[in-house]
Amino acid sequence: MDALSLRGLLDQRRGEDLDLWARTINPQFVRVLRTIDFDRTWTRAEGAYLWDADGKRYLDMLGGFGMYNVGRNNPRVRAALVEALELETPGMLAMGVTALPGLLAEALLARTPARLERCLFTNSGTEAVEAALKLGRAATRRSRVVYTDHAFHGLTLGSLSANGNPEFTERFGPLLPGFERVPFGDLEALEAELRREDVAVFIVEPIQGKGVGIPPPGYLEGAQELCRRYGTLFCVDEVQTGFGRTGKLFAFEHWGLEPDLVPIAKSLSGGYVPVGALLMSRAVHEAVYDSMENAVVHGSTFAPNELAMAAGLATLHELDEQGLVERAATLGERLLELTRPLVHELEVVRDVRGLGLIWAIEFGEPRSGRIAWRMIERVQPGLFAQLVVQPLFSEHRILTQVAGHRMAVVKVLPPLVIGEEDIEEFAEALRAAVKRARRMPSSLAKFALTAAGAIRG
Ligand SMILES: Cc1ncc(COP(=O)(O)O)c(C=O)c1O
Repeated sequence: MDALSLRGLLDQRRGEDLDLWARTINPQFVRVLRTIDFDRTWTRAEGAYLWDADGKRYLDMLGGFGMYNVGRNNPRVRAALVEALELETPGMLAMGVTALPGLLAEALLARTPARLERCLFTNSGTEAVEAALKLGRAATRRSRVVYTDHAFHGLTLGSLSANGNPEFTERFGPLLPGFERVPFGDLEALEAELRREDVAVFIVEPIQGKGVGIPPPGYLEGAQELCRRYGTLFCVDEVQTGFGRTGKLFAFEHWGLEPDLVPIAKSLSGGYVPVGALLMSRAVHEAVYDSMENAVVHGSTFAPNELAMAAGLATLHELDEQGLVERAATLGERLLELTRPLVHELEVVRDVRGLGLIWAIEFGEPRSGRIAWRMIERVQPGLFAQLVVQPLFSEHRILTQVAGHRMAVVKVLPPLVIGEEDIEEFAEALRAAVKRARRMPSSLAKFALTAAGAIRG
């Protein structure tokens, strides 16, 4: 009997991608892609590039929302996966253990502060966050959770209860009780909650994904200190910022933090196999898994699967071998050097910020009060940013995104293998796209109006 030929199947159904999705998966998403002119048929990817069906090359400045730190279709990660398949390892035993999960856990814990001594594997970022919330509650015997404005920790119900963006939460309530939101960067507000000594977990992204929020000086260190003072577990969500993104292996290293709970995922996958993990202190683990009876009290069938473990090990090896963490730091500096002058050059640019290769540009109403700006932003706040993203894609073939719903912010998260010349090309194209959006020709105005209902960052 012949095995299924994927090549044959793809050849046979070539060009049907968007229609198939519209019919069977998500017609509204396909509408969005068509409205904003992102409806390409994609055929191939390598490193920081994508090719469409016309053979045109695009620069990927989004990196699959941060899952392609080692580059798309990384050949060495792929080789490790092929080897894992060929080894015919025992795989999941249910009642038994194998070597690969232990080896990956050991490799992860060796790269993080001594306080983190245990690793629980999951299948995704949101599941790692769910584990942090659940285990945090059991370990402290407290139930409240504090999170921040604009926080994003995933979209399952527990993680969603800690989501600071109403466009994700409305319609899905009631969410979990005991979740309290505080402004990002506000230690007084945090202390007001923690002082009650009933908060299990304070969860925070070291750099916020929505809008690329950089913490004010002293905030994260202060938050850790408050957590320790009031017996709250300090959870730093590294799902997007981990694995070199910010120019350190984990972003918490920038501030010398020692969190109790660290959810990770995305790029641990090597861009191939879904995987996540919760790194935690021994105290948390021992408080939850406190007896043989409770030995399997939290987990998931597929979580420590062999292919995911192989992808994780190969990814860590690749980050080390290719010096990708240092590369993110250097290229991030270069990106800021090239784009920061825009703040002085163009009135509509309010801020340019970033750390390593998580970067954003924020727009604001020019002091001279351009009519175009007001007209666009009255249609929908944040729409100006879409007027930058769209020509970057259509004219310059560079993939970027608006950083959040109703935010006048464009964000990038390129694969860390991106070239310096790509960064330079992006900076040039960005300057041209912002200048053009500022003038807003009538074609763009029309686009803005049709796109208004279709965009969620
Ligand atoms: C900071 C952060 N936490 C958690 C998640 C959820 O991860 P996943 O999409 O794998 O569930 C994300 C996803 O974007 C994220 O950025």
